[in-house]
Amino acid sequence: MGKIYIRGGNALKGTVKIDGAKNAALPVLAASLLATGPSSFEEVPPLDDVVTICNLLEDLGADISWQGDGQLQIDASDLRTSETPYELVRKMRASILVMGPLLARLGRARVSLPGGCNIGSRPIDLHLKGFMALGAEVIMGHGYIEAVAPKLTGGRIYLDFPSVGATENIMMAATLATGTTIIENAAAEPEIVDLANYLNAAGAQVRGAGTSLIRITGVPELRGTVHTVIPDRIEAGTFIAATAITGGQVLLKNVLVDHLKPVIAKFEEVGVRILERDDGLLVVANNRLSATDIKTLPYPGFPTDMQAQVTSVLTVARGTSVVTETIFENRFMHVDELKRMNANIKIKGRSAIIEGVPEITGAPVNASDLRAGASLVVAGLAASGVTELGNIHHIDRGYHDLVAKLKKIGADIWRE
Ligand code: UD1
Repeated sequence: MGKIYIRGGNALKGTVKIDGAKNAALPVLAASLLATGPSSFEEVPPLDDVVTICNLLEDLGADISWQGDGQLQIDASDLRTSETPYELVRKMRASILVMGPLLARLGRARVSLPGGCNIGSRPIDLHLKGFMALGAEVIMGHGYIEAVAPKLTGGRIYLDFPSVGATENIMMAATLATGTTIIENAAAEPEIVDLANYLNAAGAQVRGAGTSLIRITGVPELRGTVHTVIPDRIEAGTFIAATAITGGQVLLKNVLVDHLKPVIAKFEEVGVRILERDDGLLVVANNRLSATDIKTLPYPGFPTDMQAQVTSVLTVARGTSVVTETIFENRFMHVDELKRMNANIKIKGRSAIIEGVPEITGAPVNASDLRAGASLVVAGLAASGVTELGNIHHIDRGYHDLVAKLKKIGADIWRE
């Protein structure tokens, strides 16, 4: 797999085009299982996780063709099976998102249990609670989970936590149910709205996506349609972090500023100027940044997927910052690696207390998960000397061409 090497110290300058969002692409591609007739998708990022979900859909019987530059066509008119094997699910937890569509379309879904991952135990109880509220019987055994319902009927579901995946899975299952489904305390992330837009264009009746109450009125069938995936707010945020830590000036193209509001607010607080222009979002950072406190929360709060990258930036900000993680219980794996780069961070419960230092230094470090990997790249861009980053397959899951994109705007970065 190789390693990424970064010689830090170059201020980033130039223009970057942000790709379509991984976390929007995965659910809409899973949702294509609901439709008869081909769906065409634009701005699909060519990431490892997208390849994994495509392999999974093909295994289920869908026809898939890449048609160049982010364009993908999927025809799931004829499905072969309602089972997804462990070898595919273990590669990516989001594979669980095929469960709702399979249940709605075929009356049965048998999916390998995804298990835990590096950032926490990540149960799926809320997904299952939703399927049961729609009348499905759920059976667990031999490492698999099976949901069966010859015909789903609309129901009312209160989510104890606004889980993104559970909201998506229940929303997809409910599109073909008889009657109306109401999801209360639903997640309101932009990726949920993108999924609702795809479903509605395919003939579904989903109302309220983007708020905490979503109402889905079942329809007999969905048809294939055309859909453009929204820009990746986390990739954009990662480039804001990279620009901030290097004191650079970078124009981000293909961003939806509204989706970035919670991230922009915090970077402005630490001293980065972020200007909305007709041609994109201009990020300007030329002073030493100042400390701030951040707490991750469901949207529109600060995204947990940006916590690691912003922590890297705060390692060199003036003063003491406190970063509190409320979404996942074990999402500070990057901290020990950052300490190897001379950062001064202490973990107390769910918070990282960061004493800004004037300089961090390059070191051999390892990515423990996708965003932890991104945070170490961000840190490496500012560190003196060379940072050698291992386990970079995590980065390929969620960033397309990160090294090439950073090189183009002046980073001294390479992959061996
Ligand atoms: C999605 C994103 C991920 C992001 C996360 C939170 C995708 C593919 N991934 O993950 O990048 O970090 O949202 O914004 O979109 N939980 C339960 N029971 C459940 C489901 C979740 O207790 O049935 C808990 C989880 O353990 C976690 C919290 O809810 O602590 C949030 O998880 P959730 O919103 O479901 O995240 P994902 O959909 O897995």
